[in-house]
Amino acid sequence: MTLLLDNRQRAMLAEMGVRTDFLPAAPSDAIATRAPAEVAPASAQRVDTLAQAATPPAPSIPLAQAQPLASLASTAVSELGWEALEQSVRACQACGLCKTRKNTVFGVGAPAAGPGLAPRADWLIVGEAPGENEDLQGEPFVGQAGRLLDNMLKAMGLSRRAQGAPQDSVYILNVLKCRPPGNRNPQPEELLQCAPFLERQVALLQPKIIVAMGRFAVQSLLKDSVPQVESIPLGKLRGQIYNYRGIPVVVTYHPAYLLRSLAEKAKAWADLCLALGRARRPQD
Ligand code: URA
Repeated sequence: MTLLLDNRQRAMLAEMGVRTDFLPAAPSDAIATRAPAEVAPASAQRVDTLAQAATPPAPSIPLAQAQPLASLASTAVSELGWEALEQSVRACQACGLCKTRKNTVFGVGAPAAGPGLAPRADWLIVGEAPGENEDLQGEPFVGQAGRLLDNMLKAMGLSRRAQGAPQDSVYILNVLKCRPPGNRNPQPEELLQCAPFLERQVALLQPKIIVAMGRFAVQSLLKDSVPQVESIPLGKLRGQIYNYRGIPVVVTYHPAYLLRSLAEKAKAWADLCLALGRARRPQD
């Protein structure tokens, strides 16, 4: 795939710290990306605690089908519509993080496709967990790492605030919906308890592509399809397209890591080019 960069995108990449001058010069100022190696979906075995039916193909469930909050506890997360799911996250007390959180952080991005419907998002960005700012504001990626993420999105011509064309709309969420105290790493039990929320969000959003940012997002999304994914360094997982419940997944570094490891920003840009190529490929 060849990606044409205009001056604005070059400026955004410069802001990300990604140099574009050394990239293969093409007559049309193009960046060439390598062809993705597709990884066939493995037969996914679900490990979450809720017995869930196969992911329904329908992207959205009308509000009328959403249960009132009072009955959410007895409803499997896999059955909830978008608004009921958000309420369910807000009310969740499944792990100890509920004791220290100020807000749950459900996600942000493209507006709902209609009353009671999930957003219509082509791109799903999956991060790790809310930090202090996210906990205070109830929105993912609003701190320094979030500013870098916004610049990365801008460099691709995307924005979390875009209201216009549904094509290339974005939704951003985290694997964990509550802040781990002191921004410590998520614990296995917390990831397990939160997994059904992520799973249901993806089932309802039905994005064209998922970008998994950082170790915990990658492990959560690929644990059923990549054997021993937790023991494979993220750098070794890059450069391929994986599959999460029929949706292509691209692996890249977490923006917070990129803030500390400037040299990896060019690799992250290569990952985003891989994702762009896959997202814009005609439907199979
Ligand atoms: N890091 C994440 O993974 N998510 C956020 O929302 C903020 C920082």
